Amino acid sequence: MTSSILVTGGAGYIGSHTCLCLLETGYSVIVIDNLSNSSIESLNRVQNITGKPLDFIQGDVRDETLLNEIFKKYSIDAVIHFAGLKSVGESIVKPIEYYDNNLHNTLTLCRAMTRARIKKLVFSSSATVYGDPKGKAANEQFPVGGITNPYGTSKLMLEQILTDIYRSDNEWNIALLRYFNPVGAHASGLIGEDPNGIPNNLMPYISQVAVGLRPYLSVYGNDYSTPDGTGVRDYIHVMDLAKGHVAALKWLTTNPGIRAINLGTGVGYSVLDILHAFEKACGKSLPYKIVERRAGDVAICYSDSSLAKELLGWQAQYNLDDMCKDAWHWQVNNPKGYKG
Ligand code: NAD
Ligand code: WQD
Repeated sequence: MTSSILVTGGAGYIGSHTCLCLLETGYSVIVIDNLSNSSIESLNRVQNITGKPLDFIQGDVRDETLLNEIFKKYSIDAVIHFAGLKSVGESIVKPIEYYDNNLHNTLTLCRAMTRARIKKLVFSSSATVYGDPKGKAANEQFPVGGITNPYGTSKLMLEQILTDIYRSDNEWNIALLRYFNPVGAHASGLIGEDPNGIPNNLMPYISQVAVGLRPYLSVYGNDYSTPDGTGVRDYIHVMDLAKGHVAALKWLTTNPGIRAINLGTGVGYSVLDILHAFEKACGKSLPYKIVERRAGDVAICYSDSSLAKELLGWQAQYNLDDMCKDAWHWQVNNPKGYKG
């Protein structure tokens, strides 16, 4: 029998790529999204690429009545919970909105899931919970904390809340997936990352420089103790990440408990490595300026991704050139994102 998955925030960047993988793997997909940071066009394109339909409900995960209706109407086996606000900088300016959305929506979802007796959950956490891993490959045993913004704090709080929910009722199966830096797009160039306004993250910013929307990249500091002085991160292709969710879902069905699992490549690249790889992908040199460090940034953050391999049988397949090639393909075909 086909399993049905409720995907919250499924119209967003990671959600849309995951919906595509779920449909291709044979799951039925129901999406709830309030479209506050996305466009329905992403899901139209997911259905066109796969040739398979999904059900879309426009609504807010904080709306418990709506969730109850969804759980009554569909026979849902598990939930992948992407919905939430994700900008580090914005969260410092709007902490109330961030805590309200991220905490309130997850609590509401868990209450409705409990009522419907659906207790399999894949949760979008973040490498941000590690704070500063101090130049070492972060494994899941690393201490968490030392976070300097409400967005990251909300993710750590939610990991704790979900752990408490599991402790109160060990019928729950929960995967806390700690993503490192998702980048790239589906190889079709039809779906990808569509940030609102000026991108905060490196790869979408570089893409916009490459397509002529921004004059140059500001490199936030070249005096870190890294090989070239710029910040080092673990960039992971969004399609690898999406496949990691499918692997986590399969694992959940036979493994009760709650586990935090890193989804990264285990390889760190500097800002200048990314810039140069992108230059290769787009075939032109890209202007940049070295500016002050960005407040809250750490020098190095990359994963030890061995647990995902051991538990989920998953490991990243795409390399940096693939990530840049696919990000560029999406950007050049959709210079204004889903808007045109
Ligand atoms: P995104 O903004 O593209 O997707 C989130 C989706 O949730 C959007 O479509 C938005 O409209 C929707 N949404 C927000 N609040 C909602 C609510 N209350 N009810 C219904 N829908 C709502 O973000 P993304 O990059 O796809 O990230 C997905 C998840 O992964 C988020 O929880 C994010 O914190 C987490 N994450 C992202 C990154 C990253 O760098 N992109 C890294 C680590 C973790
Ligand atoms: C990467 C590197 C910057 C932009 C953030 C969140 C994290 C997670 C992923 C959600 C850093 C440098 C960036 C620019 C630059 N999201 N940079 N110029 O900060 O590693 O992680 O997104 O959970 O929680 O904190 O990603 O892409 O912003 O930065 O020089 O214009 O690029 O300093 O070294 P980050 P990023």
